[in-house]
Amino acid sequence: MRRRFALLPLSVVCLLFAGCTNLPGKPGFRPETLRPDQTMGFAILYKNNCSACHGDHGQGGAAIPLNNPVYLDWAGKQHILTVVENGVAGYQMPGFAAGSGGLLTGAQVEAIVNGMQSHWAKPGSSAGAPAYPQPNSGNVAHGQAVFTQYCARCHGAQGEGNPAAGVTGSILNPTYLSLISKQGLRSIIVAGMPGEGMPDWKDDVAGKPMTDADVTDVVAWLASHRVANPGQPFSPAHP
Ligand code: HEC
Ligand code: HEC
Repeated sequence: MRRRFALLPLSVVCLLFAGCTNLPGKPGFRPETLRPDQTMGFAILYKNNCSACHGDHGQGGAAIPLNNPVYLDWAGKQHILTVVENGVAGYQMPGFAAGSGGLLTGAQVEAIVNGMQSHWAKPGSSAGAPAYPQPNSGNVAHGQAVFTQYCARCHGAQGEGNPAAGVTGSILNPTYLSLISKQGLRSIIVAGMPGEGMPDWKDDVAGKPMTDADVTDVVAWLASHRVANPGQPFSPAHP
């Protein structure tokens, strides 16, 4: 009986220490902040990696809005994963996977793409749209006719813009054309930019959606206006 009571203080002390993983000054089992490669929340991953170019909450940035439901449904998870992992070669979109010099793990890239889809996509909203990939070639002459029919009312007969329709700059500005890929143009033309008044492929002309060839050819026509030395008033041959 006396032995049992003698053990009591000892066991109380043991219990006290069992509850203490953090003695003052002693680091805990886990670091207090997550390692960057352990961060998995969509909002923080998007904010830290994408918002500077694509805007807070997916719009209002210099690059294509990512919260466009039609864009997300149309491009689909696989194309978007590939772009985010590898970037767009030759343009300002960086690759985020380690293999492309980025700092995100495969799981983090997937968390961003899944988050974009679950927060912003509208399944079915791109039904009937032209295919995603932009072929390298296209019919430039037909593309010009497409531009006149589908785009000129807002972008001007020569692409110069139309402030009354909300377009203040020229779509043929050589600097603009040097900063966007053909696929980037196709994405804007098919998916539109709902926040800015740029319609998607089916609403440029009411009741007459653009066909796959219409989109391919108008992109070829736009790209045919690229110049060799964008941003330079004179060509190097003309000092
Ligand atoms: C330094 C600026 C920059 C950052 C940072 C950036 N992007 Fe981009 N992104 C761009 C540009 C510019 C384009 C257009 C490239 C082109 O012309 O095709 C683009 C294109 C894209 C596209 C392809 C659109 C298409 O045509 O199908 C996706 C998807 C995308 N970005 C997602 C992301 C995500 C997700 C992040 C964050 C993990 C991100 N981007 C970070 C600049 C950026
Ligand atoms: C109903 C008017 C309207 C029609 C029709 C229209 N657009 Fe636009 N477009 C806009 C507006 C508004 C913007 C955003 C403002 C701006 O870029 O000046 C825009 C932006 C764009 C951009 C992105 C430019 C940038 O600065 O980011 C491209 C590319 C574009 N349009 C191509 C086309 C093409 C090609 C067609 C025809 C197939 C077309 N648009 C038809 C109104 C229109």
